[in-house]
Amino acid sequence: MEPVRLLNGLLLLGLIGQLSMVSGTVDIGYTGGHCDFEAIYNFGDSNSDTGAISAALSQVLPPNGESFFGTPSGRFCDGRLLIDFIAEKLKLPFLSPYLDSLGTNFSHGSNFATGGSSIRPGGYSPFHLGIQISQFLRFKSHSTALYSQPQDFSKALYTIDIGQNDLSYGFQHTTEDQVRASIPDILVQLSQAIHQLYHEGARVFWVHSTSPLGCLPYNVIYYKSKPGNLDGNGCVKPQNAVAQEFNRQLKHRVLQLRTELPLAAFTYVDVYSAKYELVSRAKDLGFVDPLEFCCGSYYGYHIDCGKRAIVNGTVYGNPCKDPSRHISWDGIHYSQAANLWVANHILNGSFSDPPVSIGETCHRLKN
Ligand SMILES: *[C@@H]1O[C@H](CO)[C@@H](O)[C@H](O)[C@H]1NC(C)=O
Ligand SMILES: *[C@@H]1O[C@H](CO)[C@@H](O)[C@H](O)[C@H]1NC(C)=O
Ligand SMILES: *[C@@H]1O[C@H](CO)[C@@H](O)[C@H](O)[C@H]1NC(C)=O
Repeated sequence: MEPVRLLNGLLLLGLIGQLSMVSGTVDIGYTGGHCDFEAIYNFGDSNSDTGAISAALSQVLPPNGESFFGTPSGRFCDGRLLIDFIAEKLKLPFLSPYLDSLGTNFSHGSNFATGGSSIRPGGYSPFHLGIQISQFLRFKSHSTALYSQPQDFSKALYTIDIGQNDLSYGFQHTTEDQVRASIPDILVQLSQAIHQLYHEGARVFWVHSTSPLGCLPYNVIYYKSKPGNLDGNGCVKPQNAVAQEFNRQLKHRVLQLRTELPLAAFTYVDVYSAKYELVSRAKDLGFVDPLEFCCGSYYGYHIDCGKRAIVNGTVYGNPCKDPSRHISWDGIHYSQAANLWVANHILNGSFSDPPVSIGETCHRLKN
């Protein structure tokens, strides 16, 4: 294939197919092959919570944070999350949680993600997506009123990683069929939230698919009950099937949003497949059994990461010595090593629709 010389002088190889779909950029600068994002606004759950639960409800305890920050830093992880690797890639600072009151800096964005959050109200957390959007509206109007040079909210990247708790909560309280039947309504609410952000000027969206719920060690321990429920990698099949159905409909929604909100650029990122590939290739990639985890305990005696107990002479809750060889940090959340592997695979666009890297997401598709 011949190299194509684009108008802006960039030399790109092998990208002809994808670029023919692109019909211009939203009103964001594009220099050196990168969109000039001034900020990131993130919406989600514990997969991208950088301190909201710690600020609002209770502190995340050590050894969380031990591999990178040296302190828990509010993340349910030994180190950085996908959202941190996104910030690093875009050369922006890590995001302060909107709910935090000390040591924050919102000059390059804000993080509304809160552990336990779902899209719909009535799940594990009061901070469902509708509340996160309200917080964003308040953040925007307040910063516009307070600062003489407020941020331009259309020059930001809007990242969204939420939905896992809608499914988890559903599996915990209803039947598989009911969870499946709830997907369209969950996605209507997600779509409404994105419409609201668009109305406020948001133009570039990076939307993560939901992760393979059934590969979380926690779920394997609690939901493997029926024989034949586990797949070849030891993941719970019905949960992954529902997660995939959620993602199929989510992708369809994103395609619809491209039509409904023509001035915006949407990237759908198949995080599910990246994480599933990681789990299925764990051994080759130098990780221990993907169903082992490093911190906390669910076997025999349940104890959360960061706590310790001695029961009948057995000590529960000692963290592992080698978190970098574990995919799961605490049975529910991925380790920094896993997040880094996933980031390295998704940020260059190889799991995205359209297949552009995170730095190029300001390109808009032709309808
Ligand atoms: C916030 O961060 C920006 C960029 O990292 C920096 O220029 C600015 O001085 C910081 N503001 C405060 C109040 O620390
Ligand atoms: C501890 O011992 C008691 C009495 O034998 C038993 O009922 C209980 O299940 C044990 N707990 C654990 C976590 O092993
Ligand atoms: C993206 O990065 C991964 C990991 O380095 C690599 O395997 C893949 O080929 C890359 N894809 C593209 C489109 O550059």
